[in-house]
Amino acid sequence: MKRYRIADLYCCAGGAGWGYLETGFDVTGYDIVDRPRYPASFVQADAIETLKRILAGEIVVDAVHASPPCQYSCTLTKGTNKHLASRYTDLYDETKELMEATGLPGVIENPRARPDVVLCGEMFRLGVIRHRNIELVNWTTDFNYKRDHRKHRGRVRGFRHGVWHEGPYVAAYGNGGGKATVREMQEAMGITWTDVREELTEAIPPAYTHWVGERLAAHLNALNLEEAA
Ligand SMILES: C[S@@+](CC[C@H](N)C(=O)[O-])C[C@H]1O[C@@H](n2cnc3c(N)ncnc32)[C@H](O)[C@@H]1O
Repeated sequence: MKRYRIADLYCCAGGAGWGYLETGFDVTGYDIVDRPRYPASFVQADAIETLKRILAGEIVVDAVHASPPCQYSCTLTKGTNKHLASRYTDLYDETKELMEATGLPGVIENPRARPDVVLCGEMFRLGVIRHRNIELVNWTTDFNYKRDHRKHRGRVRGFRHGVWHEGPYVAAYGNGGGKATVREMQEAMGITWTDVREELTEAIPPAYTHWVGERLAAHLNALNLEEAA
């Protein structure tokens, strides 16, 4: 495959980035926090400012991935944790708007993302369920939830409402109540290069972006062929 350049915005330690690397992309990660364990080129920078630089042609890439922080809408800020919501900024709308404006094919992973694709660990026989909404910006691919989602093999291990459940999946978030250890999260998601709990709980399994990356590369190949014709 031609080596396409992708900007991995809000990259954290690179769960998403790793999947694109595996697919053959030239990956640069951008995060507001220094992420020394990021497995490819890394720039400590604000994602919105980075998108503005892409739009201005100061940074040249073929595609953009963004995982804006989801604390705003995840369960951590719902129900009894609702009061925490104001502490988090929702960057989804601004990120999407700027990505659309670049005209580049983009991928947004966020609970508010339009579910053009919904990936689940069981589709890749992983040890987490971790459903994730994936929105495709300026391109599409063939996905059908009924056809492509696989029935879960059992439950997520741990306590739920005071009752212990065994199961083939671990809970890769929070602490206590049978939640996964760092080693279990690494194995369950296929992430070996960080042992920082926060980075693991934030990550999407690389298998997800490997799946997306293969389709994105095919889309970019088709665009190149069209241009060459
Ligand atoms: C949900 S995590 C991303 C997880 C990552 N996609 C992965 O698979 O490992 C969100 C990240 O966004 C970063 N972040 C928050 N606000 C940011 C901003 N304005 N610009 C860049 N990064 C930001 C956080 O430091 C955090 O690492």
